[in-house]
Parts: sequence; structure tokens; C-alpha cells
Amino acid sequence: MKIKSIYTSMIAASLLAASCKDSNQTVQISNETMTVEYKGTPISKAFDAKIDSLVSQMTLEEKSGVLHGNSMFATKAVERLGIPELTMADGPLGVREEISRDSWAAAGWDNDFATYYPAGGGLAATWNTELAYLFGTSVGEEAIARDKDVLLSPAINIIRTPLGGRTYEYFTEDPFLNKKMSVPFIVGVQENDVAVCVKHFAANNQETHRDYVDVQIEERALREIYLPAFEAAVKEAHAYSFMGAYNKFRGEYLCENGYMLNEILRKEWGFEGIVISDWAAVHDTKKSIENGLDVEMGTPKPFNEFFYADSLIEKVKSGEIAESDVDIHVKRVLRMMFTLKSIDDKGRAKGSINTEDHFEDAYKIAAESVVLLKNAKNLLPLKTDIIKSIAVIGNNAMKKNALGGFGAGVKTKREVTPLEGLQNRLPKSIEINYAEGYLERYSNNEKAKLGDITLSGPATINTLEPALLDEAIKAAKNSDVAIIFAGSNRDYETEASDRGSLDLPFGQEELIKKVLEVNPNTIVVFIAGAPFDIEDISKKSSSLIWSWFNGSEGGNALADVILGNVNPSGKLPWTMPKKIEDSPAHATNSFPGDETVSYTEGILVGYRWFDTKKIEPLYPFGYGLSYTTFEFSNLKTDKTAYDKDDMIKVSFDLKNTGTTDGKEVAQLYISDEESYVEKAAQELKGFQKISVKSGETKHVTITLPAKELAYYNEVKKEWLVESGSYKIKIGNSSRGIKAETKININ
Ligand code: BGC
Repeated sequence: MKIKSIYTSMIAASLLAASCKDSNQTVQISNETMTVEYKGTPISKAFDAKIDSLVSQMTLEEKSGVLHGNSMFATKAVERLGIPELTMADGPLGVREEISRDSWAAAGWDNDFATYYPAGGGLAATWNTELAYLFGTSVGEEAIARDKDVLLSPAINIIRTPLGGRTYEYFTEDPFLNKKMSVPFIVGVQENDVAVCVKHFAANNQETHRDYVDVQIEERALREIYLPAFEAAVKEAHAYSFMGAYNKFRGEYLCENGYMLNEILRKEWGFEGIVISDWAAVHDTKKSIENGLDVEMGTPKPFNEFFYADSLIEKVKSGEIAESDVDIHVKRVLRMMFTLKSIDDKGRAKGSINTEDHFEDAYKIAAESVVLLKNAKNLLPLKTDIIKSIAVIGNNAMKKNALGGFGAGVKTKREVTPLEGLQNRLPKSIEINYAEGYLERYSNNEKAKLGDITLSGPATINTLEPALLDEAIKAAKNSDVAIIFAGSNRDYETEASDRGSLDLPFGQEELIKKVLEVNPNTIVVFIAGAPFDIEDISKKSSSLIWSWFNGSEGGNALADVILGNVNPSGKLPWTMPKKIEDSPAHATNSFPGDETVSYTEGILVGYRWFDTKKIEPLYPFGYGLSYTTFEFSNLKTDKTAYDKDDMIKVSFDLKNTGTTDGKEVAQLYISDEESYVEKAAQELKGFQKISVKSGETKHVTITLPAKELAYYNEVKKEWLVESGSYKIKIGNSSRGIKAETKININ
């Protein structure tokens, strides 16, 4: 990874620390931690005159070529004018393998191996904005090394339902965490002369009926929950491209939605980049041209049949669409290409791919993403000095997730499985007894439905193979400790389908219970991207770990957490409900809808619902244990009363009271004590991941702009900070509040 100038405040902080020491000043800031802010670079307008001249020389056919797919992942070049193709690649897990020009089949290259990075849920679970930046720079280097102009990532839709097929790919249920992780990621990618494509704009929170469902969200929930990360992507990170989603919003498809694309994105937020359609998400040439879609991409059909191909040319010729309107879109595309130095590629970043450095980046992210859910008997970290044998049980111990399911994956040379991770890290003297335990089974019916509608009914054939169960029980009985690797995989959690229930698949529940009966020293490790119903298992088992589709080094990182080489510091980026009916979209019976889906829970998404309605989750948002313990004290604000555009400095001490060095995520929630409008019981408005050595105390300051306290007023169509008293709470999860204080807003 390379660090460029944007990474300013952190560098500034460390330089300040260094210079204080050098000049022998008494200011001791080395145990101070402060938040790092990331800012992107706006799109360049330096080439506008050149672009005008280029566009004036282009034929209508050439303009249309620049505006639509001429292969699966590229537009058409205008060679005579020196305009290359605009090249794109998925995506969220790393740079996707090369796809054929005219079908979804792999192109069959032998030089398109890439690093498989942790999926969105894993990154979000680190709660570490520096790692989001690291991920961005690292995957950006890979994208440019593959000559891609646009990386179709990050995917940042809000997790509205735990059943959502893309929950694993998205970050979180919380808009603040979402924006704070998205911005550094975007900044990092774009420093490599590669554009992000922030997706899927917007309100694409379910896969069921995604091609046509009309999403109805009241304006306040739209602004407060579903849009903040997209807005920050524009205003703070200067994202160069956005992807228009498949679904409709308030009656109009997102790729022809004037309100979302022209009004909000461009006029209100000042977006100057391009909007690219999701693949085959365009429905009408004229509406899309007029309402703000710049580039149409699609799935296999003759490229001249795209809406922005022959149809666009005809409509311009017949006068239905003005050529000057087409020019607006072409100019935007060229402006982005010049900014990326893809037209005139002097000095363009070169990047690198599939390198040890990048595997190391993937490792760092994975290592901080693993969430320790329960450690009641202190079985963890494993005491390798006294253990002689370990039963490793479950198909997930060997399962690879870089590819799988419907949608983008990564062709990688390295994916360390959990079993390989343990083999790599355990002393050779410890015997590993592996048993597959359960088989992945899918009914034909489900396979047929995949990519189409919600998986319904019993989502899997949920029976265990007696011989495999026996083998697992034998392995567990004959070993000092058993580790079961359960959860799901990327065939089970997939784009284009939502899950039918929270049930653990493939008979895992029974397997886990039977193994627990014969070996109480059993650790259950879930590898999954989305919540499952693990309440019963959670009661019965003393030791639970949650890991993710966690990239090339996922197995090593997981083994390091299990063995204590890494102290776990991941925190859940969503609420784990006890049962699906507790989740807001299900409690309000407003998922998945049919032609229309109305988000009747409004602003009460995720923990906002659980906390306001006083429903006990199984594991709360922001939750995760450590092998050490932390103590929060001395919570203070720098003043007691603030004006609406002030900065509120919240400070406290964080002490590591255990015997192991560790990292804690300090989370700042606010509650409005005297609101005139409906507010959630509390909202996350700040967080910081802090590394604290055993016995050490760090003084932490989180700066909270008072404007973060605003709610969206639908009548005035503006953000308003209400005057009055607010509670400021600090803790280590949404339910783990450790200290509170009050402030007043004038
Ligand atoms: C997905 C996008 C993806 C595109 C291209 C679509 O089905 O929704 O996220 O970038 O395919 O692979």
C-alpha cells in the first residue's frame, strides 16, 4: 500500500508526536488518539476545452458508443480521436476475473488472478476507517494493474433485512458507520487513477423482485438512513461514478429517476461524475437520457440493441432527443476519463496485483473483522500447551468462498481455508481430526429459483448423513477440543435471491448440538455474511466466534484469533435478532412486498428499532468481545452548551484492564431527550478503534459536529438540529453503554 497526501490528519498527528519529542516539549500526545478524516480529489475540469473540441468532432454513432456497453464490461473506443474504451470490473471482493466480451463466461485468461479481499460485512466489522482506506488503496492498485478504469465497488446499500441476499456484500444497517467506512475506501481506490462505482443507487435493499419492485420510503427515512453514505461518497470522497440500481423508487426505475439522479445526486449534492446503469437496468432511452443516466451497461444481447445504441441514434435523428442532451453525457464520461488519465495516460498509476503485500492487506482486514461472541469458559484463546488434539468439524472448514453463487467473485491463487489456517498455525505436535460433518445440499427447486425470487419453504434439505454425523461425533469424543465451522457460504447467500428464513442450513443445528453433547469443550465458529438464528446454540455453547467471507487470508486470520496471536476486535455491523419477527421489516410485515414494497418501519432500521421498541436482540449492533477487558472513564465534553454549527469534543479515558494488549471500538451514541418529532432511542454518531496495551490508559477525543444531531424535516425539506438537551453516551456496543453525559444545543 502507498500513502498519499489525502491521509493528512493521521500523518499530521504522528508528526506532531515526533516533533514534540524532538524539541523536548512537555506536550505528551503519544497516548492521545484522534479521528482521521479522509477527503477525495474532485473530478478535474482542466480538460474541458479539449473535451468540447473532441465532442465537436465526434459522430452521433461515436457518441452513442461512448455511452453504452460494447462488450460486457467496456464501452466503445473512438480510436481516431484517441479515446479508449472505458473499462470496468467488479467489485466488492476484489477485481473480478476477466469476463468474455459478449457473454458471462470467463474469458479464460491466465493472468487475471487477483487478491480476494474480505467481503463488505467483514470490512465493516473492523470498525476501522484506516483499514477501509487500506482496502481501497490495495484493491485500487489491483484494478489499475488490470487496466480497469472503473471498479464496480463499494456496495453500500443499507442492510434492511437480515435475509437480504447481498447482506454479506453490503456494510451495515447503520448510516453513520456506512458513510465512515465508505469514504476512506473510495478515497483509497481513486488515488490509483481508478474510479469507484458506488452502488446500488439507491434503495436496493432486497433481491426479491429487484428487477421491478417499486420501493416506497418516506422522505425522512430516505435522507436519514438510506442516503447518507451515498451523499458522503459525493461530498467528501468525490466518487467519480455511481451505479443506478435495478429497482424502482416511487414509481420510476432508478436508471431513469429524475428525482434521484438529477435533483438529489447532481443538483443537491453537486455530483460531477457519471452514472452507470446496473447490468440491464435500463428501460427507456429517452427517460434515461433526460433523467441523468450517462452510461448503459448490460447483459448479453447484441450491443446495438442497447437503449443507448441504435435506439438513441434513431431518437436523435428523429428529433425526439436533442443531440446537445447526448453531448452532456459524453462530456461527463470524457471528463472522468481525463481525470483518470485514461485518455492521455501520461503519469497514470501502474498498480500491482496478486502480490504478497496485497495478501498482507487482506490479512490485516480479516484479522480485525473476526467477532468474538461468547467466551464463557475462557476456552479461547486455545491453550496449545495443554491441548494434544483438536477435532475440526464442518464442511465450512474446507469451503472456499472467493467464487460461488450468483454475482461477482474473484479468481484467486490464494484462499486459505479455516482448516489450512489451523494447520499453518498450530504446533505440529497437536493432532487435527477433521470430519466434514454435514453436506451442502440444495433442492432442485431452490436451484431453479436462484436468481429469480426469494428462497422459500425449507431452504435446504436439512438432514445429516448418518455416517458423517458419526464420524464427527467420534472426532469430537476423541479430541481435547472440538471446533465446528458452520454458517453459510456464497452459494447459499447470494445476489439475486434473498434467504427464506434465518435457519442454519444443511442440518448444522443438529450437528452442533450433538457435538456439544459429547464434547463440552466445543467452539462454534460461524462463517457467514448475514445473521442466522443461533439463539439455541448460543445458550448451549460456551464459545462462539463469528467470521465472514473473509478473503485470501481469512483462514490464517481466523486461526490467529482462535490461538490468541491476534486479540479479536471485530464488532457486529448489524443486529443479530433472536428471531426474524423481531427485525423491523418483518415486525411491520413489510418485506418483501410484491409490485411495491413500503418501508413502513421508517427511520427505525436495525438497532434503532430494537432500542426504541425495547426488544432484546441476541447480539446487539456494535457488539464483540476481546481477550482483554477495557474500562471507560472520565467522559467529558469540552463545553456544556453548543451552537448548531459547533464541534462537540467528547473525550474519555480508555484503560486496558486485562493482561493482553488489545483494540477496543469506542462507540458514541446520542439520544435526543426532548424532541418534537419521532427519534430513535439512540443513534451512532461517532466511533474510534483504539489500540491499548495491557495496563495502559489512552485519552481519546471524538469530535462530533453538532450538525450530526440533525434530523430531516420533510416540510421544510432541510436538516434541522433541534435545540435542547441531548445525552452523549459512550460504550462498546449499542447495548454496552459505559458512561453518559448531557449537553445542550442552543
Ligand atoms: C450487480 C452489480 C454488478 C453487475 C456487473 C449486477 O447483477 O447487481 O452489482 O456490478 O451485475 O457484474
